[in-house]
Amino acid sequence: MNPITFWHQLSDEPPDAPDLAEDFHEASKCYRATIGRLIHSGRLDRDPDLAHATLQGSRDLSHLPSMPLPPIDADAERRALPVLLREPSCRSFASRPLAEALLGRVLWLSYGRYPQDPAAPFRRRPIAAGGALYALEVYVIAELRGRRGLHHYNVGHHALEQLRPTVTDAELRDLAAEPDLVASAPVILLITGLFNRSRCKYGLRGYRFVLLEAGALIHQVQLVTQALGLRSVAVAGLYDDAVEHLCDLDGVDESFINAVLLGHPP
Ligand SMILES: Cc1cc2nc3c(=O)[nH]c(=O)nc-3n(C[C@H](O)[C@H](O)[C@H](O)COP(=O)(O)O)c2cc1C
Repeated sequence: MNPITFWHQLSDEPPDAPDLAEDFHEASKCYRATIGRLIHSGRLDRDPDLAHATLQGSRDLSHLPSMPLPPIDADAERRALPVLLREPSCRSFASRPLAEALLGRVLWLSYGRYPQDPAAPFRRRPIAAGGALYALEVYVIAELRGRRGLHHYNVGHHALEQLRPTVTDAELRDLAAEPDLVASAPVILLITGLFNRSRCKYGLRGYRFVLLEAGALIHQVQLVTQALGLRSVAVAGLYDDAVEHLCDLDGVDESFINAVLLGHPP
């Protein structure tokens, strides 16, 4: 079709209605030029009440009738249920890469599909997701077979699909507000949301479900890495546009949400 005629036809159509979830997601993105006005750390230094309230991290309704619960023996809980108590995040790693099989276990135990039969209609995964719609994707920057590249975790096939054979140090550092931290991680998991997978059923509320699912995935990755003797930290300080450019995402239908860095303990 003649492109001029085509665009004329489009201009006769009413524009799409504003989309609140897309607008919000865009407004919450972090760019190199805007990160300074997104994060207001100074407020916590200037306002002692605010700092105190954030340290508390929970509402205090102790003026109401209150029922103390039986005391917790933290050490006994840790001994009995070690995999359930998340250890502190770790921001330094041994430089050696993860063996392929170990990386595969991290991915499968965090977001894989079981049983591992692509033909099975069974869609269960290690984390819960609204409507079992599983709207996240996981991209992996890691050294495999001697080269650090960018891969997509294909859940159905339990395989890593190579998007870029190489990711250079400079490319990696360009992604992040904390370049030293990100460049030091043997494995970087980039979690993205394919929002319409949930929104096609739940509309705007589906956007909420995708973010909830991402939180559950971060937590699961941290518990799995801990159980496998690895260390991890969730990292939000990546530039959305840089990650989306690297992964070749449009940033609207599929967009970056958060990263998790992991590796062997230092
Ligand atoms: C969504 C999210 C984003 C985070 N982003 C960063 C980050 O950009 N840089 C960082 O050093 N830690 C980051 N963290 C880690 C938190 O700072 C850390 O979980 C928190 O301080 C609690 O400490 P702990 O994980 O050691 O218990 C993030 C955690 C979450 C859940």
